[in-house]
Amino acid sequence: MDLHRPSVHTMDRRRFLTALGFSAAAVPFVSGRFSVSAFAEQTAVSSGASPAVSAASGRLVLLSDTHVGRFPRYRFTVDWLIECVSEITAMDPRPAHVLIYGDLSFNVGELGDYRMLREIFKPLDDAGIPWTPCMGNHDRRETFSEIFPEKAAQSLVPGHLVFKAETEYADFIMLDSLNVGKVGGKVSDDQKDWLNETLKKQTKPTIVGAHHPLRETQVAKILESHSCVAGYINGHWHYWHTNDQPTKLPNMVMPSSGLWGDIGMVHAELTQDSANFTLALRDSFPQGKVRSSNVPGREEQTAKKNGLQWRLDL
Ligand SMILES: [Fe+2]
Repeated sequence: MDLHRPSVHTMDRRRFLTALGFSAAAVPFVSGRFSVSAFAEQTAVSSGASPAVSAASGRLVLLSDTHVGRFPRYRFTVDWLIECVSEITAMDPRPAHVLIYGDLSFNVGELGDYRMLREIFKPLDDAGIPWTPCMGNHDRRETFSEIFPEKAAQSLVPGHLVFKAETEYADFIMLDSLNVGKVGGKVSDDQKDWLNETLKKQTKPTIVGAHHPLRETQVAKILESHSCVAGYINGHWHYWHTNDQPTKLPNMVMPSSGLWGDIGMVHAELTQDSANFTLALRDSFPQGKVRSSNVPGREEQTAKKNGLQWRLDL
């Protein structure tokens, strides 16, 4: 198995865009030729990746709520994500996959946000580290698909962006819970049917995720009825939590990579028997504050949570 690429059933781009409700011919194929904004150029992203470093098949990195945008006040969010990417590409061995649990865009899925994200993630692409996203309430399928047509073409459910990332010891299903114009999430009936049928055929432990929590995605019953499902992961809340959602299934809520809440990423090491997730926390401050805010107790709070773990039996 080639661990450098998510093994997915593909759907061609024209069919995908048509399913989204607009003409594929009307959408320029921008991959590799969009003009990079002045803001994105300031990111000065360079891969620094050595081709000699190999990937560890059980090592993954999880990100969420990257909220990339061009607002100067939130430039720190972009800088933090660039730092995350730089740390990921410097890992030795490298991770076999990076998973991103939604809200990639700053607010409403603007094309410019995804163009910046494309620049910021270029070192991952250059290093051959595959990444798989899911859509959050601040994303938009059409603009994401325009900037990342190669990702959109891998969606498994027409009209949505649903992916399965296969790794050596477990597969990760990334559902699409974007309900456009609403903060809350929803998983469509056709996705639920697809999920149920897919889980029936799974031969590996499977970790299902979406941007939104289970109380909104309403897939707990489906997940609990399949013994292959090891756990559920979501973003949206920006604060690390584990095992406090209404399900018997183990569950984890991701930090944000850099906007507000718990700021950091999650490292995962999988073996045949277990998946161990470790929180790498850089900072923690409430919504409405920014990186440079004076928040009493912030360092203690960060130190208290940094390194917390979540373990799944596979
Ligand atoms: Fe968010």
